[in-house]
Amino acid sequence: MSPNSPRIDISPAQETIPPVEPCTLVIFGGSGDLARRRLVPALYNLLLDGLLPPNYAVIALGRKPMTDEEFRASVREGVVTHSRQALAEDKWQDFARRLFFVSGENEDPKTYADLKSRAEEIERNLSLPGNRIFYLSIPPSSFAPVCEGLELAGLATKPGAQIPYARIIVEKPVGRDLTSAQAINQVTGRVFDESQIFRIDHYLGKETVQNLMVVRFANSIFEPIWNSKYIDHVQITVSEAEGVGTRASYYEEAGALRDMVQNHILQLLCLVAMEPPYSLDPDVVRNAKMEVLRCLKPITDQDIEQVTVRAQYSAGTAHGKPIPGYRREDGIHPDSTTETYVAIKCFVENWRWAGVPFYLRTGKALPNRASEIAVQFKDIPQILFNANAHQPQPPNVLALRIQPEEGLSLRIVSRVPGTRAQTSPVEMNFQYSDVFGRPSPEAYERLLLDVMAGDASRFMRRDAVEASWAWVTKILEGWQKQGLRWLPEYTAGTSGPVEADRLIEKDGRTWRTL
Ligand code: BG6
Repeated sequence: MSPNSPRIDISPAQETIPPVEPCTLVIFGGSGDLARRRLVPALYNLLLDGLLPPNYAVIALGRKPMTDEEFRASVREGVVTHSRQALAEDKWQDFARRLFFVSGENEDPKTYADLKSRAEEIERNLSLPGNRIFYLSIPPSSFAPVCEGLELAGLATKPGAQIPYARIIVEKPVGRDLTSAQAINQVTGRVFDESQIFRIDHYLGKETVQNLMVVRFANSIFEPIWNSKYIDHVQITVSEAEGVGTRASYYEEAGALRDMVQNHILQLLCLVAMEPPYSLDPDVVRNAKMEVLRCLKPITDQDIEQVTVRAQYSAGTAHGKPIPGYRREDGIHPDSTTETYVAIKCFVENWRWAGVPFYLRTGKALPNRASEIAVQFKDIPQILFNANAHQPQPPNVLALRIQPEEGLSLRIVSRVPGTRAQTSPVEMNFQYSDVFGRPSPEAYERLLLDVMAGDASRFMRRDAVEASWAWVTKILEGWQKQGLRWLPEYTAGTSGPVEADRLIEKDGRTWRTL
């Protein structure tokens, strides 16, 4: 689209910013990877963009003893390496003096007493009103003791007349199957009201993911054809180039289905398939998404072999770097049957989508980091430019690219200039970075700001988490019954197992090249 799309420069300050009150963010798992790589850099970028409230504090909680200064030094390195915008020394100094560290075990009641007195002291010194957000960046097994610890220490104030608020952010994984997810929801729901709980799925903070609703409902051309009459199928792909890296112990217990499909991919599917909500009220939007999950056709034990593929990467190279086979990675069991790749064909059984397959795939150690939703429209009739059955015209595809180059493209067929009646597919391409004069904020920036503003639209509601686990648990049970001792393999750095190609090719379709 570029030549005709004028570049639009919007400074962060011109955005409509939700009102954000001064607050204290408490990060459980504060010395962990997520805090260092994503959360603290996100906060720092919000500060640079003038989006943080004027007064705030961040308290990280972690097991190993650290002084505030040591903590500041460790996250500074995280900001230097992972921040979207470069570190500016004066801004960093302002930011760093609002970072604090409290050490303690999540299971120890003393931790909460220490946290409370430290928070009160910091809030007194900085004249903060006592609004608190507790970020649980910890394994799900610690959710219960943390909620109970907060409750016992009087830190989990319920909403109501109290002016300072308490909110809790729950990181995924919310459980490992339906039963464990229900148990987590039960304990968080006993201590906090649903309106205080923000279950994070960082994909919902990504620019293109947010743009999905805008594309569908702010344009008149898509909605009339957004149904089984015009759409042949939908492909949702989240491809990652990295192997399991340093997260072996978590990943070995999770696998691609739990790690990516239960949350990120099903949320994308909901946004593509949902009915138009009648308003943007968080619960109206979340109700519309919930309807999709209710319509997802369960995958039965009889179907499992036909409609799911799971596989593991074997040794290979990606971008010139050798990657060991999954079962050879540090911390992985040599007989592991944890999948690093999954492909699924599924259906949303309602009037709009009857008979339209949704093909989902995700994997680690694939050729590229590339994620997209591709909506492929039906073939045109075999007449005129499509009369040659040996050379059918390629169908129209609307591809919404989530990463790395956020944007969207529409494939259409065009005439090739010249004297011969030749046609060729061409892409109309829109890239955010070309049109809008600044890079999109990282997902965690937007989501942290949402929590500070109390806006839950981009967070998962309890019923949605449980509905997606119900669907995924059925697949997990089906796989368990299959009792495979070895999974199919794909060489690291290649685009997935042949079994996944067969899954889609037997329907006369192909995966898009990423
Ligand atoms: C996380 C998964 O939720 O998402 C990781 O646990 C995965 O395994 C990551 O790598 C992908 O996120 P992104 O933003 O890099 O696509």
